[in-house]
Amino acid sequence: MAHPMLVADVSGDFASAVRAGLAQAQKVIPARFFYDRAGSELFEDITRLAEYYPTRTEIGLLTAHAAALAAAVGPGRAVIEFGSGSSAKTPLLLGAIRPGAYVPVDISAAFLAESAAALGARFPGLPVLPVAADFTQDFRVPAAIMGMQRLGFFPGSTLGNLAPVAAVDLLRRFASVLGAGSALIIGLDLAPGPGKSVAELEAAYDDAAGVTAAFNLNLLHRINRELGGDIETDAFAHRALWNPDLGRIEMHLVARRALVFSAAGRQFAMAAGETIHTENSYKWMLAEARMLAMASGWAPVNSWTDADGRFSLNLWQRDDARMQP
Ligand code: AVI
Repeated sequence: MAHPMLVADVSGDFASAVRAGLAQAQKVIPARFFYDRAGSELFEDITRLAEYYPTRTEIGLLTAHAAALAAAVGPGRAVIEFGSGSSAKTPLLLGAIRPGAYVPVDISAAFLAESAAALGARFPGLPVLPVAADFTQDFRVPAAIMGMQRLGFFPGSTLGNLAPVAAVDLLRRFASVLGAGSALIIGLDLAPGPGKSVAELEAAYDDAAGVTAAFNLNLLHRINRELGGDIETDAFAHRALWNPDLGRIEMHLVARRALVFSAAGRQFAMAAGETIHTENSYKWMLAEARMLAMASGWAPVNSWTDADGRFSLNLWQRDDARMQP
């Protein structure tokens, strides 16, 4: 068994979140801990699943509405992408709008270097100015984009993994980093409706091949690997369910039987059927998405959705009159 204190020294944030989260009446581990190397690879696999419609639907929307987006935002903007663009989405946007610079912001320097190099090769002549930073905290934008109007890009409905209060905080932060005259292109997954059933939505988070289950269970493997845990991972099942009252998919790890385990230097007990809540993925109706924009310093300009109303691509403009500097 790894020495828990030694592990805690290099992984203090994870260890304290696990200790605090597993001590709660409803056990919880924050979703940001999904993304170690194994978890990031499993997430990439999820985006290619037949059941996981958001990625391909958003790519379809960016492709179909590239010209309209380009006309709305105009050329010469500095595009700041929150989370670096390792996917097919970024080149679609950059290829459509003739930007003045591209600034990927990511906490992972390795991801950042990879995606910056790939985009630099694909768009010769475009200044690519990576920033290694946590975009949920203050960071400095490169001096080279001072004076350029900015366009934020936040695809993938990543906003949905934040509690509403944190989502509003983040959008206000974007408005302040992007500055006066800026715009934001944001992908938001939609609530179930006539073209998307609850069953389809739940299947996107509980696929037949078990990839999302493996992604969820990787959290327990990660605790065992990094925090000296002795969790019997086979004793847990993956569960994903739509919570209609709160407008979100919830993911849980369900104890199949009563068990006791240690992790991060503490002992924990779970009853059969008890769960660890590992993720929320909020889904919005279009009117709610607009309300979210307006509550956080943005004015909705346009929204594009697929024919089934599964996913939305939104263009917002900073509500300069309402924003403090
Ligand atoms: C990253 N995020 C937007 C994904 C989502 O759909 O909430 C994470 C995910 N969890 C399970 N499947 C995908």
